[in-house]
Amino acid sequence: MSVSLKPMTTTAFVAVVENVDLSQPVSSSTVAELRSAINRHSILVFRGQTIDNDQHVAFSRNFGALEIHTVKQYLLPDYPEIIALANRGENGTTPIDNGGAYWHSDISYKIKPPMGSLLYSLEVPPDGGDTLYADMYAAYDALDENMKRKLEGLRAIHGYAARFEKMGEGGKRPQLSAEQLAEVPEVNHPIVRTNPETGRKALYINEGFTLGIEGMPMDEGRALLDTLNAHATEPRFIYAHHWRVGDLVFWDNRATMHCATAYDTQYARTMHRTTIQGDTPI
Ligand code: SIN
Repeated sequence: MSVSLKPMTTTAFVAVVENVDLSQPVSSSTVAELRSAINRHSILVFRGQTIDNDQHVAFSRNFGALEIHTVKQYLLPDYPEIIALANRGENGTTPIDNGGAYWHSDISYKIKPPMGSLLYSLEVPPDGGDTLYADMYAAYDALDENMKRKLEGLRAIHGYAARFEKMGEGGKRPQLSAEQLAEVPEVNHPIVRTNPETGRKALYINEGFTLGIEGMPMDEGRALLDTLNAHATEPRFIYAHHWRVGDLVFWDNRATMHCATAYDTQYARTMHRTTIQGDTPI
């Protein structure tokens, strides 16, 4: 039986997958269909799932080896492939409330940033806490020809340390250790990234981790990045995912960026994320 995909009418870069039960092993033909779907839609939404950690990891591994996050205090003790985005913490993990509340593409600061992420919701607040996603293919396509020419060959500098420090304001987060810092040196990636499987071009910058542009004075590079971030986050490129318990959202980090939104933290919000390793952006 083939996968039932329902593209959203308002935001075609998002599709709902209706007939796949993630608690069961999926066939190789289903995996192939989902791989093809993520290249077409960038975001796949699976509603009403009930999966445990083993099932989450097993499903994710169908799409590649899994990334282990540099900051170990967020990882589930027996499942280092799962980062707990949990405002109460979970089994001793450091609590995160609104940890990803800035536009970013996961772990873009690595030489080989993750291809995709799979976020599963276990507890959600009654209101708010949505995740916003920006369609970076559409954002690139909508640039005028002058800007497209200007961006050709430009590379953005990505880094994690500055962002981590910013999130530590108020003493909420510990410093990165020397060992952790060594794992995340600054890297640079093309500002226009091509999906090697489809040839589609996407803007590959984000508010969270891009610091400047290689070979450009810092303030000039920052200003161009700000312009591109403002363009890519115009409402016409955005999908807001309102979470229900049991949703799993699989997104393509090569083609989207995302941003968590606020909610009343008297309510629990517990999410589990796996992250699929990727290739060097071209
Ligand atoms: C993330 O940034 O990966 C998670 C976003 C969220 O918690 O809504």
